[in-house]
Amino acid sequence: MSESLYERLGRSEGITQIASDAVDNHLANPIIATRYENATANVEELKNAAATFFIAGTGGPDVYKGRNMAEAHKGMNINATEFMAVLDDILTALSANNIDQRTQEEVLFVLYSMRGEIIGV
Ligand code: HEM
Repeated sequence: MSESLYERLGRSEGITQIASDAVDNHLANPIIATRYENATANVEELKNAAATFFIAGTGGPDVYKGRNMAEAHKGMNINATEFMAVLDDILTALSANNIDQRTQEEVLFVLYSMRGEIIGV
């Protein structure tokens, strides 16, 4: 049987690193940095939420206790350019952690499918 997405992303340790890198990329990305600077959550909390969301969502052992995507982004009126910037940052983090192209495509598709809960809510 082929490895689960959780395993191909390097299990909890790998996903924690990818999530940390992705948040660092957001904070360095001029299109979206202020969104995170003005967030209620601090950087450690954002990294922790991103990691547990991904570990839980890819079949790992964590239980995600944060808000669902529509609730987490409600009232922000995020636009399509910002959404694309977040996807770009996550793909950059996946590449930096040597995740293969096929697995990156799978993550991209999962993220893209959440757009209706995140853009313009
Ligand atoms: C598929 C894409 C995305 C995913 C999977 C995602 C995931 C998450 C998660 C898991 C949280 C934590 C929720 C909680 O604390 O309960 C969060 C919070 C946040 N997200 Fe996203 N997000 C995405 C896209 C975006 C975009 C495009 C923006 C806009 C630039 C954005 C801005 C934020 C901000 C600012 C917070 C912190 C809210 C606060 O604590 O005040 N996200 N996101």
